[in-house]
Amino acid sequence: MSNDSKKSTKTESNIQFEVKPGGKLLGNFHVPGDKSISHRSIMFGALANGVTEVTGFLSGEDNIATLNAFREMGVSITGPDSGKVTIKGVGIHGLKSPSKPLDLGNSGTAMRLMSGLMAAQKFDSVLVGDKSLSTRPMLRVTKPLTQMGAVIHTQENGTPPIVITGKQELQNFNYDMPIASAQVKSCLLLAGLYSSGKTCVTEPAPTRDHTERMLQGFGYEVARTDNKVCVEGGGTLTSTNITVPGDISSAAFFMVGASIASGSDITLQHVGINPTRIGVINILKMMGANITILNESEMGGEPVADIRIQSSELKGIVIPEDQVPLAIDEFPVIFIAAACATGETVLTGAKELRVKESDRIQAMADGLEILGIDAKPTDDGIKIQGGSIKGGVVSSDGDHRIAMAFCIAGLKASGKITINDCANVATSFPNFITLSKTVGLNLDSLDN
Ligand code: S3P
Repeated sequence: MSNDSKKSTKTESNIQFEVKPGGKLLGNFHVPGDKSISHRSIMFGALANGVTEVTGFLSGEDNIATLNAFREMGVSITGPDSGKVTIKGVGIHGLKSPSKPLDLGNSGTAMRLMSGLMAAQKFDSVLVGDKSLSTRPMLRVTKPLTQMGAVIHTQENGTPPIVITGKQELQNFNYDMPIASAQVKSCLLLAGLYSSGKTCVTEPAPTRDHTERMLQGFGYEVARTDNKVCVEGGGTLTSTNITVPGDISSAAFFMVGASIASGSDITLQHVGINPTRIGVINILKMMGANITILNESEMGGEPVADIRIQSSELKGIVIPEDQVPLAIDEFPVIFIAAACATGETVLTGAKELRVKESDRIQAMADGLEILGIDAKPTDDGIKIQGGSIKGGVVSSDGDHRIAMAFCIAGLKASGKITINDCANVATSFPNFITLSKTVGLNLDSLDN
């Protein structure tokens, strides 16, 4: 095992974070690599012919779960070491039958994408996850896969483990997705690589398109028109080198932090600004944030830039529903921005937030109420009245993004905030504490 993987080994203890009030954020720095792109780099690197070198790989627990699953299937992978991973691709038909269930930890992305891939293999497999992942809805992938000809079953209530019987012939498939989900789209495209014909997925609203971009980067033809994406089965992937940009979902914590803490001025370097991911920038700008995009360039088919954020007064807004899929992972910290804004912020059309690593609407509303903010959950969103944040003890509900969002709230709080159940921060942002402290947050981890 490499150094990076050792660092991110999960612990079952109650890790509490404690943030002392006040401070401001200053500095030019990098956030860790993009989680979505890191997952896909392992998957496509493994399926390619030839050796793929990845730099900037995110060594969080979620991505390590994906990496280990491919090792289980006979793929030789070295690293991660300081973000460098080398994958000896086995070709599209080269995966070997795993000797045990594939444990995907906390990662919904790994489980949903790999459902599509495993359903197309010549061998059987079982996909399992941790307590949180074991409660998450999987019928959204198993139903369309079944229509393609896969034999794939969840538990009775539609949750993992997922049990897959291999050696099926997958057919031509046209799917109108009922929800805007990049995970479902990517799952079906992965299965489509093995289908006897063409697989097309139509999305109700644009979602992150890293799968489409990366497939093209590996030389696989992808036809894209408006909201429809198609692949023909039977092609091959050719290895390539991938530089993973900084994760805008991790950058979002500092974007909000610098906006709300007066006197802040930070520049986040080399962050991915794929148009399907920039909802957080659009929403914060609508709220009055002072954000400048600098040094735009392209890295391996993905747009990147430096993002400068200076503090400013924020105002409450009605968040346009078309921004929801583009900011889907950033809402916990956007809610902190709303709590610090003048007036009311209203979110609708975001029911998906209820089935993420936690029910993010309820978890944030509960914590904000404890901190003295008027936050009313609705069926598909929330209404937050900007106010004064006080100290208190909140729970992350075992959700990394809830934990980090409440850390950021400390910058504007009048008292100490203690956040329970923070071990999961290691799934997406293993160096969150160290980096946050360096740039100005008064944050500590207490390992109980
Ligand atoms: C992801 C897609 C999103 C997002 C998740 C990562 C991906 O999920 O919330 O963290 O990498 O494809 P949905 O597509 O289900 O909304």
